Amino acid sequence: MTFANFVSGQWVPAASGATLENRNPANARDLVGLFADSAAADAEAAIRAARRAFESWRLVPAPKRAEILFRAAQLLGARKEDFARDMTREMGKVLDETRGDVQEAIDMTYFLAAEGRRMHGQTAPSELRDKFAMSLRQPLGVCSMITPWNFPMAIPSWKIIPALVCGNTVVLKPSELTPLSAVNFIKVLDEAGVPPGVVNMVTGGPAVGETLTTHPDVAVVSFTGSTAVGKLVNQNAAPFFKKVHLEMGGKNAIMIMDDANLDLALEGCLWGGFGTTGQRCTAASRVIVHEKVHDRFVEQFVARATSLRVGDGLDASTQMGPSISDKQLQKVMSYVEIGRQEGATMACGGRRLNEGDWQYGFFHEPTVFTNVTPKMRIAREEIFGPVVSVIKCGGVDEAVAIANDVMYGLSASIYTQDINRAFRAMRDVYTGIFYVNAPTIGAEVHLPFGGTKATGNGHREAGLAALDVFSEWKSVYVDFSGKLQRAQIDTENL
Ligand code: UN1
Repeated sequence: MTFANFVSGQWVPAASGATLENRNPANARDLVGLFADSAAADAEAAIRAARRAFESWRLVPAPKRAEILFRAAQLLGARKEDFARDMTREMGKVLDETRGDVQEAIDMTYFLAAEGRRMHGQTAPSELRDKFAMSLRQPLGVCSMITPWNFPMAIPSWKIIPALVCGNTVVLKPSELTPLSAVNFIKVLDEAGVPPGVVNMVTGGPAVGETLTTHPDVAVVSFTGSTAVGKLVNQNAAPFFKKVHLEMGGKNAIMIMDDANLDLALEGCLWGGFGTTGQRCTAASRVIVHEKVHDRFVEQFVARATSLRVGDGLDASTQMGPSISDKQLQKVMSYVEIGRQEGATMACGGRRLNEGDWQYGFFHEPTVFTNVTPKMRIAREEIFGPVVSVIKCGGVDEAVAIANDVMYGLSASIYTQDINRAFRAMRDVYTGIFYVNAPTIGAEVHLPFGGTKATGNGHREAGLAALDVFSEWKSVYVDFSGKLQRAQIDTENL
């Protein structure tokens, strides 16, 4: 089956006719579909369409824009199961998780569509008589979105829905590895009544990304992906003073104190480290454990990690799916080698799985390194795979210092029964997200999502913070005195 780009309400192939293959990472013999391999010209056409559509969409009352989005949420709900299956087939994560991914898109759509009847600004008293002051949110125009493969529907929804409710128009470039979920999402928006040109989608590689980040008619660039590519996006957009929203890597830590409920911590580390095959920017790739409980924790963690069932995510008994691609698997394997050479102890895993049916996919054993020190590369660099580094610590202060001693600042968590330690860590860990007695993954849509340091550039998505990315403030003064009043000057004799 061949899928096209979506431009101005029409499904159109790349002008060159080129396509790229989307294959199932659990079974590379399974071709999910062919998708447009677009070039700069295709992206330019989409930007033109979005620019034209902006002039009418921005004038549609926000509650009316929201009605269309509510319809989209209903359609997503009705198709959740089919979309989850499509997603597992192209992305690999297990069905429970792809259902969760679609659910996240549904939740985000309901949550932010409701802003169509709020989108509050402020009113303020004027310092002058007979003068009114207020601020309101205005849309910016065309928003480019470059989204990753690990949350193929949720992340496009985090960006598209707030952009639309604010009155912007959109050009989406989904990951080449998971375009089907983006197609499914766009089809729903179209069916729900989003007018032609308001949402456009162009699939393809770096040529599309380059155009979306440099074109003069693009006002906002919202990117989720690696820190290396985020830097390029930022550099591309800087000379044009575009508003840039970046959501990048993580090296998230779970801290386990000596008073923690160890069984609970164990469940959290398994889910946080190996859920989504470790391919979340929020993944718990570091576990910092108090020396008093370290050995007991490691023994159980290794036993449980070893027994995780790895396989095709469409199979109900599978607990962990494949890496997304051969390239990603190679990256995982290279970090396993780095960990070995750095002198960490491989407590379990460490091997590619390629016997039997595994041979057709990109499977790797859940891997745990112990005796990891904070300076090792496996403790500092984002691997984005099923590899967890366990680091020993002497107490909460040391744990916090280790957690903070990386370039990223997305998510962190602490397991403890001691409220004082929990609050201290909550205050002192410098991340955008923090959990107590829960793993580092599992952010909810109505709270801000994002990170500090090299994880982001000061913005947050999701929550009401998303409105700050996709709108800008206009302050409005209405003088009904009938005479010239000079602010900061004519303040006498009022
Ligand atoms: C990501 O990995 O890019 O909090 C997003 C979580 C999910 C989203 C992760 N709700 O783990």
